[in-house]
Amino acid sequence: MARGLYQNLGGDYPAENANRADSRFWNRGRWDNFIQPLLLAEGVALDERHGVTDGKAPHHVFIEIGCNAGLFLQAATSYGFGRVIGLEKSGHAVKHGRRYRDEHNLEYELRNGTFGLDVSLDDFPVCDVLLLSTVHYYFSIQEWTRMLDILHTRARYVIFVSRHMLLDHNRPQSGMRDLCDYFPNDRWRKVATVTDVPKVNDPKARHDLFSVMFQSRVLKREPINRFMVGDEDQMNVGLSELVVLAVINDEDINITETKYYKELLRRKAGRWSPPAIVDFVGHKVAMMRDVKERGLMEPLLAHPSDHWRSRHLVDGGHRLMILHALGHTTVLVREVGP
Ligand SMILES: C[S@@+](CC[C@H](N)C(=O)[O-])C[C@H]1O[C@@H](n2cnc3c(N)ncnc32)[C@H](O)[C@@H]1O
Repeated sequence: MARGLYQNLGGDYPAENANRADSRFWNRGRWDNFIQPLLLAEGVALDERHGVTDGKAPHHVFIEIGCNAGLFLQAATSYGFGRVIGLEKSGHAVKHGRRYRDEHNLEYELRNGTFGLDVSLDDFPVCDVLLLSTVHYYFSIQEWTRMLDILHTRARYVIFVSRHMLLDHNRPQSGMRDLCDYFPNDRWRKVATVTDVPKVNDPKARHDLFSVMFQSRVLKREPINRFMVGDEDQMNVGLSELVVLAVINDEDINITETKYYKELLRRKAGRWSPPAIVDFVGHKVAMMRDVKERGLMEPLLAHPSDHWRSRHLVDGGHRLMILHALGHTTVLVREVGP
């Protein structure tokens, strides 16, 4: 007999427990009752000021670690997230999950790997939402601690689905109080919880299951035009042209013919050799293609001050232009002070 999947995909897919299929505590019911209400409570990926139109957030990123066959990736896609990535260590679940995705013409990425072993947060783009649903307590305390060290700089919101269990001291704890203690006030704000999903008439109610969402205090989604500088600068004119050639048209580029190269040649005359400038521009082209392909692997860095209408960007001006050229109207920014 085929090994059952934790999630019930229906049809001829193997499933662990048929009576979970219609429960509020498992599968799609878990999304509907424990996860989506948190997103709705905060209006995540619904805000028009964040470039959302017709309920779709084309550039918002949703990541799930321990996604099993990917039911929540499907749910996140239909909720409106434009870029959805799941990580799952079980090759069996991934195989069926991908077959299901392709049969239904769905668009999300289902990666096979083990968080903490061959995959870390650095392998993912910075995201709007990171979901850990009944999975974080499988991590070792080492990988959990490493994750917490940087999580507030890589995820705008984190959602946990969990329940109190008696776990070894070398595992991340799973109860609400303990989870909240891992998310200190100077880095995180606890923004929403679900604790009271009704159990009556549920075919497989799960005692004590709850969800909680934290919001990072340093990673924010901001309108791109708050950071844009005018196009009048010749360097920017050159960069814009490069973005169009490298990213939009995806052409082979003759670097010495580009405006960007010519402008650098003029500005760096006598200081940078022409081959060094070719190299420099080549790096920019590679970066542009990488941003298009993999997304924003590090947040832009911005001055936290709100005094000016257009804010100071501390790092990431080129990536900002690339995202702008790719049609993004907002961007994930990490505030660094002073
Ligand atoms: C209890 S299931 C939860 C599945 C899904 N999140 C849900 O709530 O329906 C946990 C899943 O996480 C996967 N998993 C556990 N540890 C993992 C790790 N370190 N990296 C990736 N996946 C992991 C397991 O293989 C399993 O599919």
